[in-house]
Amino acid sequence: MLVLGLETSCDETGVALYDSERGLLADALFSQIDLHRAYGGVVPELASRDHVKRMLPLIRQVLDDAGCVATEIDAIAYTAGPGLVGALLVGASCAQALAFAWGVPALGVHHMEGHLLAPMLEKTPPQFPFVALLVSGGHTQLVQVDGIGQYTLLGESLDDAAGEAFDKTAKMMGLNYPGGPEIARLAERGVAGRYTFPRPMCDRPGLMFSFSGLKTSALNTWQHCVSAGDDSEKARCDIALAFQQAVVETLTIKCKRALKQAGMKRLVIAGGVSANKALRASLEKMLGDMKGDVFYARPEFCTDNGAMIAYAGCQRLQAGQHESLAISVQARWPMEQLPPL
Ligand code: KG4
Ligand code: ZN
Repeated sequence: MLVLGLETSCDETGVALYDSERGLLADALFSQIDLHRAYGGVVPELASRDHVKRMLPLIRQVLDDAGCVATEIDAIAYTAGPGLVGALLVGASCAQALAFAWGVPALGVHHMEGHLLAPMLEKTPPQFPFVALLVSGGHTQLVQVDGIGQYTLLGESLDDAAGEAFDKTAKMMGLNYPGGPEIARLAERGVAGRYTFPRPMCDRPGLMFSFSGLKTSALNTWQHCVSAGDDSEKARCDIALAFQQAVVETLTIKCKRALKQAGMKRLVIAGGVSANKALRASLEKMLGDMKGDVFYARPEFCTDNGAMIAYAGCQRLQAGQHESLAISVQARWPMEQLPPL
């Protein structure tokens, strides 16, 4: 089954062609980062308008790259939520219009299920069941995954998502959006031990997260540096490193707890923050010590992309799921509401 996947939940237009027999045939992405940079974050209306501009040229590009023609496409998968409603509506209407024109089924895919299944596109995909750490700009969740659509939420953030905390911490130090890669880049030059930030909610049992206090600690430290006349690159690097270490250690502690609670030794990390090298190294070490395995997608499939939507959609479409021509998206959408395959 050849599936066209469309991702438009936020500030990236992602398009891909995934074939159930041949695997991923092509994928293309247009990132709107430059468009939103001047505003320090995503401007929803600008995002929607840009998705409209990029979608059809990207679809033509993946068809060309894959050496396919539109009549070969068996179904279309698009991100139906969670995300920015205007941006989601662009992908949904485009998918439904093309599905109607080409006489093929369409299916709305859950964005976080897409992230969760992205490591399946790699050479050594994880086997079910596993524990997944979903860390993106909007979500921080620990989920027990027994199969596609068999999700048990083990823990999540009470306030900011991990990616959001990276973005806000970067913004307050005057760094560019998105802040995660910027903080990671500065952290490489930071001196460990100059600052230490809290590991929130690690001193009590449970699998919930809270990152807003950590962000405030970083803010206070930065303001202290500024008022002492030290708003230098070095101060930024040292704060970036201390902040990243605190996030990484907190996530590692909670992943260890979740694996223990679920009685598993297989961990999947997904979402934009799973591209973070320090996080990967820390989880590799933790799983290595317990003789387990950690799985993640290649960096470009950790952040938003069309390939994960084409893959997740293909699994559900192959199982016979599809929907009517109604165009419907959801800004908020708990993943546990998804039907099992
Ligand atoms: O999954 P994603 O592309 O979009 C959402 O679904 O939110 O995640 C974007 C988030 C942003 O907050 C970005 O700063 C963060 O992922 N991110 C990173 C890294 N690359 C992206 N955070 C830390 N380290 C990175 N290398
Ligand atoms: Zn995402």
